[in-house]
Amino acid sequence: MLQHIESTELRNHLRKSYRDVREMTMKLVQPLETEDYVIQSHPDVSPPKWHMAHTTWFFETFILKDYRENYVSFHEEFEYLFNSYYESVGSFFPRHSRGLLSRPGVEKVKQYRSDIDSEISLLIEELDEKKLREIANLIEIGLHHEQQHQELLMTDVKYNFSINPLKPIYLELETTTKDVAPPLEWARFEGGLFEIGIDEGERFSFDNERPVHKVWLNPFELATRTVTNGEFLAFIEDGGYERAEFWLSDGWATVKNQQWKAPLHWEERNGEWYTFTLHGFVPLNKEDPVTHVSYYEAEAYASWAGKRLPTEAEWEVAVRDQPISGNFVEDGIYHPVASIKDDEGQIKKAYGDVWEWTKSPYMAYPGNKPLDGALGEYNAKFMSSQMVLRGGSCVTSASHIRPTYRNFFGPDKRWQFTGIRLAGDQT
Ligand SMILES: [Fe+2]
Repeated sequence: MLQHIESTELRNHLRKSYRDVREMTMKLVQPLETEDYVIQSHPDVSPPKWHMAHTTWFFETFILKDYRENYVSFHEEFEYLFNSYYESVGSFFPRHSRGLLSRPGVEKVKQYRSDIDSEISLLIEELDEKKLREIANLIEIGLHHEQQHQELLMTDVKYNFSINPLKPIYLELETTTKDVAPPLEWARFEGGLFEIGIDEGERFSFDNERPVHKVWLNPFELATRTVTNGEFLAFIEDGGYERAEFWLSDGWATVKNQQWKAPLHWEERNGEWYTFTLHGFVPLNKEDPVTHVSYYEAEAYASWAGKRLPTEAEWEVAVRDQPISGNFVEDGIYHPVASIKDDEGQIKKAYGDVWEWTKSPYMAYPGNKPLDGALGEYNAKFMSSQMVLRGGSCVTSASHIRPTYRNFFGPDKRWQFTGIRLAGDQT
């Protein structure tokens, strides 16, 4: 898409979008105290400081080192320290040990960000048009990459805080509202031959969303909103976590091994349910969308409810004409809420609030080609043993999400804002 923009407009666009996304990261870490930046309470979680540095490393490694003449690295060890998983760039510091690094300190990481920002800004102003167009796509990828890490940063902070008996509050905000969830209705869709996915160039997309390809769908129905806490509570009260008949075999083994009795961050005290949020430890609002459930829990709930999860193709066909409206990170709530916006369309909460598990394994689309070079490692090598999620969450940027967007996590993961939308076959 950027290839069609005139060069002055392109420079303006890159300057603004770069500044907006980089500033959002700094806004999100602003409530943290220095010690909060450093800890890693679980191997899946990374310290906020690491997210801040790694997103910066991405711009330094994939743009500055190739396009800035006589570029001298900010720190020669950072290439190793803040590489996440790019084998073709070199070796990397073990993921599970990121929380062991007291240095570089927070101030040094902020200086790293600021220095790289200055260098990227100079490139945007000074490169000739040909090279500017070459780096435009790389900057876009870097910004979407940073938005993904902003989301991880928020769920990682939440997890870090959740294990602390002091139950720290990220942001004081009253979330208990009188809003009620919209009624649960079923939207019906004809079957037939459809196209899903996107081709390169229409607008920004990751390589895993490409290309446009045909899918066959049988007639199906899709719930007009996601499952609420109250509805999930009925599953728990019906013995959902003690009845193997609802669970996939691997899911049941995980329930037993992990001793799951409720979604992550839920806790029962004196017969009342509470949940840990970024606003602290609060009574569970039964009208809010259920979140922090794994694929296994989503599957088990659907089985108990006599329904199923949608496939990602069903989800995309049903939702792609809905407005991208919902509860996103820009709303500053950082928690899924019952209320809906006026312009959400027929399928409520299609975007924002919670990522929706689909029953589709994360695989390459027919005809898919990963990016050339090191960035080919961005998505393609993770296409095994993970499930696709759609729609974005309350910590996703509105500018990051689109109908073809494919998120993916292992079926046992539940520290992201993940939820459930039911589907069914039309009879
Ligand atoms: Fe990354």
